[in-house]
Amino acid sequence: MKEIRPINWTGSRLELLDQTRLPHEQVTVNISDYRVAAAAITDMRVRGAPAIGVTAAYAMVLAAAELQSRERAGSQIAAARPTAVNLGWAVRRMLRVAEAEPDPGSILPKLEAEDEEINRRIGEHGRVLMPQDGEGVLTHCNTGALATSAFGTALGVIRAGWEKGGRFRVYNTETRPWLQGARLTSWEFQQLGIPATLIADSAAGMMMLNGDISCVITGADRIAANGDTANKIGTYALSVLAHENGIPFYIAAPTSTVDLSVTDGSGIKIEERPQHEVTAYGGMPVAPSGTVAYNPAFDVTPNRYITAIVTEAAVCRPPFDDSLRRAVDAA
Ligand code: MRU
Repeated sequence: MKEIRPINWTGSRLELLDQTRLPHEQVTVNISDYRVAAAAITDMRVRGAPAIGVTAAYAMVLAAAELQSRERAGSQIAAARPTAVNLGWAVRRMLRVAEAEPDPGSILPKLEAEDEEINRRIGEHGRVLMPQDGEGVLTHCNTGALATSAFGTALGVIRAGWEKGGRFRVYNTETRPWLQGARLTSWEFQQLGIPATLIADSAAGMMMLNGDISCVITGADRIAANGDTANKIGTYALSVLAHENGIPFYIAAPTSTVDLSVTDGSGIKIEERPQHEVTAYGGMPVAPSGTVAYNPAFDVTPNRYITAIVTEAAVCRPPFDDSLRRAVDAA
């Protein structure tokens, strides 16, 4: 299958596949200033929790090369998007590494390779949860190679199932308002040669009721110690619909997404994004001028609606306080 690499480091410069331009254009942006890297995260040229973590780590390398105060640069980079655990984690790790390592950039290719290996292990653990041939799996947002270093998490589970010969049907939501599903996930499935059917977010309930969906799998931006999971807005609604229809609802994420310092979902900060992402698309208004919009980028799915959380260490099942802690310790 064709591999997608959204982040490339030349040794002195960061090259990002601009995700605001996909699927129509494949444009690479070249970045040699950490402030520009932070802006690329805020503007979602690169997005997806693991991918913004990797970008933040390279941004720290760029700041070090400029002889900027590492702490100041770190605060600016960490503030680029607040919900995903990966951003602050990457910055803190780079601050620690910088104390001991004269060339902190040299450790990052290894970390990226580890991320890919972790995703492949998530795929191995998760593929047995995929439905029988002919039955449907639904995914939300984009969790593939574009959102990680490579391979993906929830999309990686679907990919692993197909690579092992599973011939279940794949459905993906368009994921309003930013259309990660329509623009990015549909594109990735095409690159991988996996047939997938795009649905409007609002079609998911009817499809579950009609028996078209046998399970749902999504990624995560931050998982609290009790299993409450922050992910793309709309995930909570899908979990409630899955529960109502007796359909398993899975999360796929590396153990690094588990934030044991947060007891439950109420402690997760939810990013609010600009109104124009809802009132317009591609510069074209979709609502009357003057319309007020509310645009939370994520929501929290309570642990009671989650059947299992697939990590690289194990498939964690309720009670999550216990199973997640064991997976984190084992990883
Ligand atoms: O706003 P985004 O596109 O960065 O949101 C992405 C998601 O919610 C993903 O599901 C999550 O980051 C996991 S990506 C492997």
